[in-house]
Amino acid sequence: MSSEPKSVVEAVEVSKKYKRGKISIPAVNGIDLTIGKGEIVGITGPSGSGKSTLLNLIGGLDRPSNGKVLVDGVNLDDLSDAELSNYRLKKIGFVFQFYNLISTLTALENVELPMSLANVPNEEQRKRALELMSTVGLGMRADHMPDELSGGEQQRVAVARALANNPSVILGDEPTGDLDSKSAKALMELIKSLQKERKTTFVLVTHDPLVVGQCHRAYSVRDGKIAHELSGKELGKIMAESQFY
Ligand SMILES: Nc1ncnc2c1ncn2[C@@H]1O[C@H](COP(=O)(O)OP(=O)(O)OP(=O)(O)O)[C@@H](O)[C@H]1O
Ligand SMILES: [Mg+2]
Repeated sequence: MSSEPKSVVEAVEVSKKYKRGKISIPAVNGIDLTIGKGEIVGITGPSGSGKSTLLNLIGGLDRPSNGKVLVDGVNLDDLSDAELSNYRLKKIGFVFQFYNLISTLTALENVELPMSLANVPNEEQRKRALELMSTVGLGMRADHMPDELSGGEQQRVAVARALANNPSVILGDEPTGDLDSKSAKALMELIKSLQKERKTTFVLVTHDPLVVGQCHRAYSVRDGKIAHELSGKELGKIMAESQFY
């Protein structure tokens, strides 16, 4: 009998209310979802529907008001703040819309940073960072500063950085939102090849029907709730044809 958890991410009745004075804003309002190892899952929906809030709950950047989030079978609610930040460092890779690279570090040093924070020995950091730079197709750009790279290249460095500590899941919040369509396509090809070759799990928040179309499964979120769950292909097609997305 294997004791491996069935899912990488499981959200059970998860809610997040923000308080503004006396007003309570239900940003996420009772969401259940399960994400298996090696899946690429899309999350889409209108602005303000709660996508980023949901991603932040999965990533342990925020704690739910109700319900629970499990990653690799561990209930994040059981973790202290220090354990939660260690969890983020080791178990989650984040990719943001505007890359968020440290501008004073080279591309390679940006990839080394999460390993340095996790106390990986220096030699191993360098070796692994160089491997990851070549995995994302930027072996020749390792010594470039972020502002010497295109947006698409910076986002590939961000993906390499996200992979640094071998996370259980990579969370992307509008990872193609600032990219031209050619770079966006290339980023999705990279994501698909990482999924294929390393069984990396991705959760991608996006407004882009082309991104959703490449996901195995996709959820659409409305008013903090799951409105639909479809194959990426189906939801991508609906989004491309509908004025509501
Ligand atoms: N820190 C906060 N304090 C108060 N309200 C917040 C906070 N963060 C988000 N909200 C509110 O929660 C709701 C969901 O926000 P969220 O950022 O998750 O939406 P989103 O789906 O990611 O939107 P977008 O597509 O524009 O990025 C919105 O009504 C937003 O105004
Ligand atoms: Mg958002």
